[in-house]
Amino acid sequence: MDSKLFTPFQLGPLTLRNRTIRSAAFESMGKDFGPTQKLKDYHVSVARGGVGMTTLAYASINRSGVSFNSQLWLRDEIIPALKDITDAIHREGAAAAIQIGHCGNMTHWSTAGSFPVSASNGFNLYSPTFHRRMSHAEIAETAKDFGRAVKTAHEAGFDSVEVHAGHGYLISQFLSPWTNRRRDSYGGSLTNRMRFMQECLTEVLEEAAKLKMAVVVKHNMEDGFKGGIEVPESIEIAREIERLGVHGLVLSSGFVSRAPMAVMRGRIPTKTMGYYMGWNEWLQKIVVSLFGQWMIKQYDFEECFFLENAKKFREALKMPLIYVGGLVSREGIERVLGEGFELVQMARALINDPAFVNKMREGDLTTRSGCDHRDYCIARMYSRDMQCCHNCTEAIPDRLWRELKKIK
Ligand SMILES: Cc1cc2nc3c(=O)[nH]c(=O)nc-3n(C[C@H](O)[C@H](O)[C@H](O)COP(=O)(O)O)c2cc1C
Repeated sequence: MDSKLFTPFQLGPLTLRNRTIRSAAFESMGKDFGPTQKLKDYHVSVARGGVGMTTLAYASINRSGVSFNSQLWLRDEIIPALKDITDAIHREGAAAAIQIGHCGNMTHWSTAGSFPVSASNGFNLYSPTFHRRMSHAEIAETAKDFGRAVKTAHEAGFDSVEVHAGHGYLISQFLSPWTNRRRDSYGGSLTNRMRFMQECLTEVLEEAAKLKMAVVVKHNMEDGFKGGIEVPESIEIAREIERLGVHGLVLSSGFVSRAPMAVMRGRIPTKTMGYYMGWNEWLQKIVVSLFGQWMIKQYDFEECFFLENAKKFREALKMPLIYVGGLVSREGIERVLGEGFELVQMARALINDPAFVNKMREGDLTTRSGCDHRDYCIARMYSRDMQCCHNCTEAIPDRLWRELKKIK
């Protein structure tokens, strides 16, 4: 088959062995904000499964940005344990990336150890928590923390960092007019709303250039609701990211505190989600179990669900673009690569089957992953380790299966 899928790609200073990346998808496998053997085993299995690069999800650049105890907080103390993981990934022939970000108003006092911060004051029903507006001194310090995180990631053996600038996390909270109601130089016009992102990326790129690391940004093509960022404005932001010299842009969408399933598409099994929540979150557990399906907007899933929007960015930009969203088959991947995207990311296909890339290499155009988008992995990830319902190491109760089987 004449395809670029299994050809190498030069992502800034980094050569990838093929065009596939395991996207940042929160594993929820950390402990005390550090890595575990389980996290290592999962990423090593993905690397062994043939992927070009695997991305550890969602590491916070400082303590105030953490929203789960099972999340990574990138700091010196965990460098040896991370190095053990990156060494093992490299031994399998894959590159290693880490997604870095700050959860902003998605944090909670209990995890972040301080009052949650954001672009503006407010209340985030999703967390749920009040949050306060960041001062200029805090903004400058946070941008510096992004730079420091790159240095830490390098010491831990990562080849690349992916800056999380989408999905309603801190950078996205500054970009989006829905969460940014500031009237100073960081709010109002798009130029002002982009300023925090520019400052963070400047720190990241400066540090990465010294260390010869690749820098990728995960960006929202749209927030997914009226009053959020829409495609034309998002293209302007992407142009700025290109101008700054970022090596690759991941095109995503959705806003976790408003439209979480706009990120992943499909129907989240809310009873399952409530079932796994602990009784320490009893109110959320009851509310999610009883009313979740009405509270969380559901979407139909279709393969390559972001492709039509992503093509608008392909037309507007010259930089390498990384497609993510609904890739579960070789055919879908070939379609995306055929549209001029340099790389593809997958989350759920590789949660279901870490060896999917090798299976595509050995198979033909009809090769598919076994993921059928029942989205158990998402429902579970909020309270337990991320696992697919089709190969879960724990028995899944019958009443959860009844809900999962209804999801088409
Ligand atoms: C269990 C799970 C956890 C996720 N966590 C993150 C995350 O930490 N950071 C992020 O940028 N995206 C996250 N995502 C979104 C994925 O990276 C990806 O953008 C989305 O799932 C669409 O890709 P897919 O159709 O291949 O799953 C998560 C997705 C899943 C399924």
